Amino acid sequence: MLTRTLFLATLFFATLITIAQPALAAEEKQATLYDRLGGLMPISVVVSDFIDALVPDATLNANPAIASARKRVPAAYLKYHVTAMVCQATGGPCTYQGRGMKESHAHLNISEPDWDRMVTIFKEVLAKHNVPARETEELLAIVNSTKADIVAVGGGK
Ligand code: HEM
Repeated sequence: MLTRTLFLATLFFATLITIAQPALAAEEKQATLYDRLGGLMPISVVVSDFIDALVPDATLNANPAIASARKRVPAAYLKYHVTAMVCQATGGPCTYQGRGMKESHAHLNISEPDWDRMVTIFKEVLAKHNVPARETEELLAIVNSTKADIVAVGGGK
């Protein structure tokens, strides 16, 4: 009787493990970057901090075209659009409705050093918010995919 119970219990747990493991693997595989970042709330906070760090940056504002656009374009507007863009690009439920990257940056004469400065600030903000290495890499890949449309001087094409 004991042997039979033991056998049935073993069979039960073996079946459970066989069923659960692929389900867990699939769930892990399907978790979008958006989900792994924690969704819109943390994404909007990170983007807000990022824009707040970019706007007053002396290195970037040494480029007069960037400095003049900073005075004209409200940070809140950029936060709204960049949040929607990151939300969409990471697999979230948002739809980016702003202009294309070429069109919105062409007049800014963004150089390779400008770009590098932006990436440095981006990495600092992600580190401040303890974004893990894998998610940081994926976010950097998304940002880098826009480089050719944004950098106008000395590379990017
Ligand atoms: C060195 C790099 C960058 C600088 C200096 C920069 C600066 C700016 C400035 C000044 C504007 C306002 C332009 C205007 O309306 O006259 C702008 C717009 C915008 N930027 Fe950037 N940007 C950089 C990179 C990026 C990246 C990597 C992204 C996203 C991946 C991005 C997303 C946007 C968006 C969504 C807008 C608003 C587009 C619209 O008006 O519809 N920018 N940027």
